[in-house]
Amino acid sequence: MKPTGPGPASTSRTTRLTAAPPPSVRVRAPGKVNLSLRVGALEDDGYHPLVSVFQAVALFEEVTATQVAPGSGVTLTVDGPQAEAVPVDPSNLAWRAALLLAEHTGVDPDVALHLRKGVPVAGGMAGGSADAAAALVACDLLWETGVPRTDLLDLAARLGSDVPFCVLGHTAVGTGRGHLLTPAMTRGEFHWVFAAQAEGLSTPSVFAAYDDLTGGNAPPVDLADETALMQALRAGDPTALGAALHNDLQEAALSLRPELGRTLEIARETGALGAIVSGSGPTVAALARSRQHALAIAATWTAEGAADTVWTTTGPAHGARPVG
Ligand code: C5P
Repeated sequence: MKPTGPGPASTSRTTRLTAAPPPSVRVRAPGKVNLSLRVGALEDDGYHPLVSVFQAVALFEEVTATQVAPGSGVTLTVDGPQAEAVPVDPSNLAWRAALLLAEHTGVDPDVALHLRKGVPVAGGMAGGSADAAAALVACDLLWETGVPRTDLLDLAARLGSDVPFCVLGHTAVGTGRGHLLTPAMTRGEFHWVFAAQAEGLSTPSVFAAYDDLTGGNAPPVDLADETALMQALRAGDPTALGAALHNDLQEAALSLRPELGRTLEIARETGALGAIVSGSGPTVAALARSRQHALAIAATWTAEGAADTVWTTTGPAHGARPVG
């Protein structure tokens, strides 16, 4: 029987139409809220010892890493809310993550990175750290470098104190600079609302304000202070969690942005179970009783002009992992 199917002419046409796009990997990594952040006195290395309970929330940065011709180097593009506020040069943490992984594994640092922002920029929610976490995982998959998880977490810690947590996700206790992580047991889902400001706060300036407020004599941090918080997480009890939220940097952030005091007050007036500045701010986080309640707090913040953008979401969320 004569073979069927396209002859040589149509084969070449088919080939042209279905030419494979360059290999590409898409990875999502979460933003975070510090359920508790306790800060000790500045040490000689320029960092403060911390005890922090992190929770990842379902606001994600998405990084697409696409193969490019050998010798092309790293390129970076960004889209999404506040994309114009993000540097697209080697100072970007995602770019640095690609270079660090290439150096560690001995591959050539050739990749086109694209970031889709889903976490407020410079808001105390680790958006830049999530970019670095996602870029590390995406490049490791694209370049097939198969870096073991523990090494990947070490590289993450070299990029920034919050980057290992953005790789890990869920809920975890961080010590050291915040980079030494122990996963925490939690039950259920918590409903969060975030009031983000168009103008961010720089993390070093908030830590410097903290040093001024404490006169450089902050008491040592102690894991035992988190007992009530850990119990609330294990029980999945949002009321107890709301009461246990804590942030040593809050007063420092308020000293730089006094208007955040009103944002916190509105959340409490609207029945939030707890309200705190997220990390070094200026984003304010409110814990709600339910999704409906989260929407009510968001609507009140918007109506009162207390935020430039409001976000409702849930936690805990997964760490850096590939999608679709
Ligand atoms: O680690 P990362 O680069 O994200 O930290 C940014 C800045 O935040 C540091 O340069 C330091 O000023 C401050 N920081 C600190 N203590 C920490 C973490 C960060 O003082 N534990």
